Amino acid sequence: MQTYDFDRIRDRRHTSSLKWDVADTELPMWVADMDFETAPCIVSALRKRVEEQIFGYTVIPDRWYESYREWWGKYHGFDIKKEWLIFTTGVIPAISTAVRKFTTPAEKVIVQTPVYNVFFNSIVNNGRRVLENPLAYRDGEYTMDMEDLERKMRDPLATMLLLCNPQNPAGKIWGADTLKRIGELAKRHHVLVFSDEIHCDLTAPGCEYVPFASVSDICRDISITAVAPTKAFGIPGIQSAAVIVPEEGLRQRMDRALNTDEVAEPSAFAAECAVAAFSDEGREWLMQLREYIEGNKRLAVAYINEKLPKIKCVKQDATYLMWLDMNEYTDDSGSLAKFIRSKTGLYLSSGSIYRGNGSGFLRMNVACPRSLVEDGLRRLYDALNGYCLDSVYEKGSEAS
Ligand SMILES: Cc1ncc(COP(=O)(O)O)c(C=O)c1O
Repeated sequence: MQTYDFDRIRDRRHTSSLKWDVADTELPMWVADMDFETAPCIVSALRKRVEEQIFGYTVIPDRWYESYREWWGKYHGFDIKKEWLIFTTGVIPAISTAVRKFTTPAEKVIVQTPVYNVFFNSIVNNGRRVLENPLAYRDGEYTMDMEDLERKMRDPLATMLLLCNPQNPAGKIWGADTLKRIGELAKRHHVLVFSDEIHCDLTAPGCEYVPFASVSDICRDISITAVAPTKAFGIPGIQSAAVIVPEEGLRQRMDRALNTDEVAEPSAFAAECAVAAFSDEGREWLMQLREYIEGNKRLAVAYINEKLPKIKCVKQDATYLMWLDMNEYTDDSGSLAKFIRSKTGLYLSSGSIYRGNGSGFLRMNVACPRSLVEDGLRRLYDALNGYCLDSVYEKGSEAS
């Protein structure tokens, strides 16, 4: 039974929200940020901390380690040792740190495109090169191209693989066999695997993800995994994450690197939020959230199938980000996203920013009250009707 009110609309305009920093008539469904009030247990933990009225430098309490260990043990079948865990302020800071520490300038980091666009920034802004291993796309589903992956790993300049598990934007949970095979290839070709698992708790009801480091001893020993409560509990502004590094040598170097980059120290709120999220009350809230998001997706798929049958909804089992195949309209999703925004105010992410075959896709964030999803779908319909009649639109810049 649903006891939390995910239908409630909170006006986030003019609240310094990145997502809602848009014109008053616009509807943002782009960045991965949810429009729900977070779990009450997190709000209580924050209130309690605020009541102390002193906000000094903070250390990581034992209960932070315990909450991660229990959550991964209970729900993800992965027995994490306390010493494997290191606090960090975010997954992207940890990725950038690992890129700097474990690769040298001009080396190549493999990414499986289409993939979360900020990965490219972490690589390129640090003077490394992106090496794409495009995902294969057939019958509306993505799989990994293992032959191409091995070819890419054989390149002596390719020293790291940035894995997205589950995958953003395709919403795919990678299976244990696939992950195990990646581990074998990576070991053979001396490639470090960084597994970004930030979306791991946002799976469809009844589906669970597989932690990369849990599938074999090899995967455990050649990887760094990043996890966080921020995506699933809608608290990315709190900046609270962790890396899991089982292998001692790697761990020491990663610990040193995070500290050198000054991204290993928590704010007064970061650890408290994680402890509250990874609790029984947090779990109950999350289970209801997952049902609600699944309901939003079902509604969107039914609407699209009926009214916009030229769009294909990619089959997904994770994330709240719908990945819409627009190839029957265009393979220039940057221009299409811009057109939709200018005609109706609906702000979607252009698939082209994720590279790979993304330029034929749009990404739509449905982690919002259902009435907003309905509003977004109506706007999409209006825009695409206009788009069909008037396919003369301005080509060029993209909606980020
Ligand atoms: C795959 C992935 N990794 C990392 C992030 C951002 O993580 P953080 O805010 O902890 O840096 C996102 C945000 O959307 C994401 O989708």
